[in-house]
Amino acid sequence: MIPLFDALRRRWGGDPGLAALDPQGPRGVALRGHREYVGGHWEEIGQLQFDFLVARGLQPQHVLLDIACGALRLGVKAIPYLEPGHYLGIEKERGLIRAGVEQELAPQLRRERRPRILRDGNFRFWRFRQPVDVAIAQSLFTHLPPRLIGRCLARLRPCLQPDGVVYATFHEVEQECANPAVPHDHGYFAYTRAQMEAFGGEQGYGFEYIGDWHHPRGQVMVAYRPRR
Ligand SMILES: C[S@@+](CC[C@H](N)C(=O)[O-])C[C@H]1O[C@@H](n2cnc3c(N)ncnc32)[C@H](O)[C@@H]1O
Repeated sequence: MIPLFDALRRRWGGDPGLAALDPQGPRGVALRGHREYVGGHWEEIGQLQFDFLVARGLQPQHVLLDIACGALRLGVKAIPYLEPGHYLGIEKERGLIRAGVEQELAPQLRRERRPRILRDGNFRFWRFRQPVDVAIAQSLFTHLPPRLIGRCLARLRPCLQPDGVVYATFHEVEQECANPAVPHDHGYFAYTRAQMEAFGGEQGYGFEYIGDWHHPRGQVMVAYRPRR
């Protein structure tokens, strides 16, 4: 008989703690519903992101990339504001994209503003073939190990305008801590400010710590800009 720990490790890639979490993927979306799957606070966090980006200089002619756009919590605010074709969303869960497009976005808005949304779980941003002015990863690095944060930033770098910017939220800790070994949409990953700076530095970005931006779950914000 396989001991319980080995069975869990096989299933969860070495992290039995993750086994206790709600399922992720299509089963999780079906179980929780699209708004809860992305963490709830639907209206509040959507508005918070949009207000933050506009306060930081987002303009209608900019191309905005929403990394891990979920069910368009930000999209429903940003799509009407941006010029047609200027909202790019990328997301790994087909069910979230479908719910966002079919249940959250008015059909007329979709026709008029033509948001471009890709299902892709491997950060292949080049598939948009459109240089990005502003990118945001809201509550994505809170669910990823360093290897995937590095991949996300590395793949984004050539797709950004030279004066582009990437905003990312994270759970901040004072001391480096043990995180799960594998990504999980309901897992909890926390990093120090220095780790966040290093993730960007390794991929050719300068770093700005923004900190508190009134996120209801206490996530803080950083900005990465391509180094010249
Ligand atoms: C907490 S939700 C936040 C969603 C969105 N940013 C928002 O604010 O509503 C995290 C999202 O990251 C997505 N995700 C996780 N790993 C991903 C990957 N490798 N590529 C694309 N999306 C990913 C999940 O499917 C989920 O929709």
